[in-house]
Amino acid sequence: MRLNGVSMRWLILSVLMPLLLLSAPVSALADGDFGLPDHRGDFHQLSRYREQAAVIVLPFSYNDEASMRQAERLADLAPQLSRQAVLVWLLNASDDPALIRARALSPGDFPVLIDSSQTVAKTLSITRLGEVLILDPLSMGVLYRGFDDVSLLEGVLTEALAAKASGRPSRLEQSIDQLDGTALRYRFIEQFAGRKISYQNEIAPLLKARCAYCHVENGLAPWAMNRYIMVLGWSPMMREVVITRRMPPGQIDNAVGNWVNTHELSDEEMALLIEWIDQRGPREAGESDPLTEPLPVASEWPRGQPDLIIDVPEQFIPATGNIDFLVKRVGLEIPEDRWLSAIAYEVGDKSVLHSLLVYAVDKSLQSTDPDDLIAGPAADFISVYVPGESDDTFGANAGYLLGKDKDLVFKLRYLTSGRETLDRTRIGLYFSDNAPELRIRTLALEKPDFTIPANTAMHREVMMSEPLPNDVLLESYSPHAHSRGRSMSVSVRYPDGSEEALINIPNFNYNWQLAYRMGEEKLIPAGSVFHVQTVYDNSASNPFNPAPEQTTGQGYRVDAEMFSHFIRLAE
Ligand code: HEC
Repeated sequence: MRLNGVSMRWLILSVLMPLLLLSAPVSALADGDFGLPDHRGDFHQLSRYREQAAVIVLPFSYNDEASMRQAERLADLAPQLSRQAVLVWLLNASDDPALIRARALSPGDFPVLIDSSQTVAKTLSITRLGEVLILDPLSMGVLYRGFDDVSLLEGVLTEALAAKASGRPSRLEQSIDQLDGTALRYRFIEQFAGRKISYQNEIAPLLKARCAYCHVENGLAPWAMNRYIMVLGWSPMMREVVITRRMPPGQIDNAVGNWVNTHELSDEEMALLIEWIDQRGPREAGESDPLTEPLPVASEWPRGQPDLIIDVPEQFIPATGNIDFLVKRVGLEIPEDRWLSAIAYEVGDKSVLHSLLVYAVDKSLQSTDPDDLIAGPAADFISVYVPGESDDTFGANAGYLLGKDKDLVFKLRYLTSGRETLDRTRIGLYFSDNAPELRIRTLALEKPDFTIPANTAMHREVMMSEPLPNDVLLESYSPHAHSRGRSMSVSVRYPDGSEEALINIPNFNYNWQLAYRMGEEKLIPAGSVFHVQTVYDNSASNPFNPAPEQTTGQGYRVDAEMFSHFIRLAE
């Protein structure tokens, strides 16, 4: 066998990488990045605050007086801390999340990070409520840990920041035995303490259900989760992507709305997986490996032969480099208007196609400008393909009227995979012969023009719909932005003036423009108005930002931005 580029890459990924990762010191786990939602639904990831001097983390509970007092003392220092570019996060790993969210006012109005799986508290080795941690968002290390009277904090902070500036290790960490305060009760870990976690019966099934369907050989994910040794080798990295909520991708706030798939791990799943990783991935002798079981062979069109198959123009994808979004128009030839009931995606090369948005556009539109084709008044968003979801069936009794005067337009996003390839993706259209009861319509709330200033970490754009002319059912929702997109949300104002949050995507990642479906039908009455919001991060702290020093605005290209909220309705 010749070791060409491809097999070399597989050798590195599958054999050497696990060994390399295994040799990483365990102590690396004490420091590190993490991300958590707060009581307002905002998401905070330590590494995204690199421009701050420090972040103070105070574990507290509304039911623990001493730690509440610490938090209030910190609140008194708030103006001074903000002058020093020091952030304060209250970390709540004790109280019921619903209760934390219900308390609109927190001490100092600081964000209350909800760590209901207790995995961040564990990562930071927190033992007691009221303990003060000073973290460096740049190195992600702990600069200081102690349980001082917060009034002494000023001196401690000065020393910690001086240590950070000089690059010498902080010598301020107190020994844990000296600490006062109520012990933080790790309720999950208590459950695991008396027993062994089973790889075969707990970990492998969890990974199969939540990760391995994407992490397949020749899939989009960079490694296949197809045997124990792979999982073990990648486990430090798994810990990191789980604790920063990067994986599973596309997570939304489960406290808002009733959506079928929030892509989150439950608290129990997170606690279990992290604990198993921290125990260095034990597997009992004789345990079988469910991850090696062969995957079911997917049939070409799982929901049956489509009524019409459309070829997406084939794309040559080079081995490496960045590929801009591609916008392609395809002529549609149907003799009469048809009711579309579902779209299926038959992806040519799953290792490179990241997302595919489908629009209908008037045949009469002459323009070849990609912005007109996808964001102009003649364009109508229909559906999106993302990895793992290759079937888009509209709600029961609902259909999309595809006019014979329409063409289709595709917006494609590719990632390179290390080997060149030709992607030949097809989409299957399924028609229904009878007119459905409800008609599918996408309300696309898009801004044709907006400006995001350079070096701005929080830039908010909002938009309102027209009042709805009739009652509708909310069917699904797709957020769309590019690399500066940070969070997206939708709410509705009802005719009686009351408001309801419908969806919150606190940690948007432009690689994952998913379609979220309602768990049960949600009626929005005539006269209601949708409010949509996208927050952009055009600062250097955004790891995806191609050019923080540039002012940017609307455009389909990767270095420009988009403001698109696709609310699919049945009416
Ligand atoms: C919907 C598909 C999908 C699911 C589900 C998924 N992953 Fe991934 N994963 C990817 C893709 C694609 C990448 C590479 C691109 C990226 O990082 O977004 C990736 C990357 C990774 C990486 C490598 C990160 C790096 O920096 O190289 C790890 C580790 C990982 N995933 C772990 C997990 C774990 C653990 C789960 C389940 C809890 C999971 N993934 C679920 C698609 C998925």
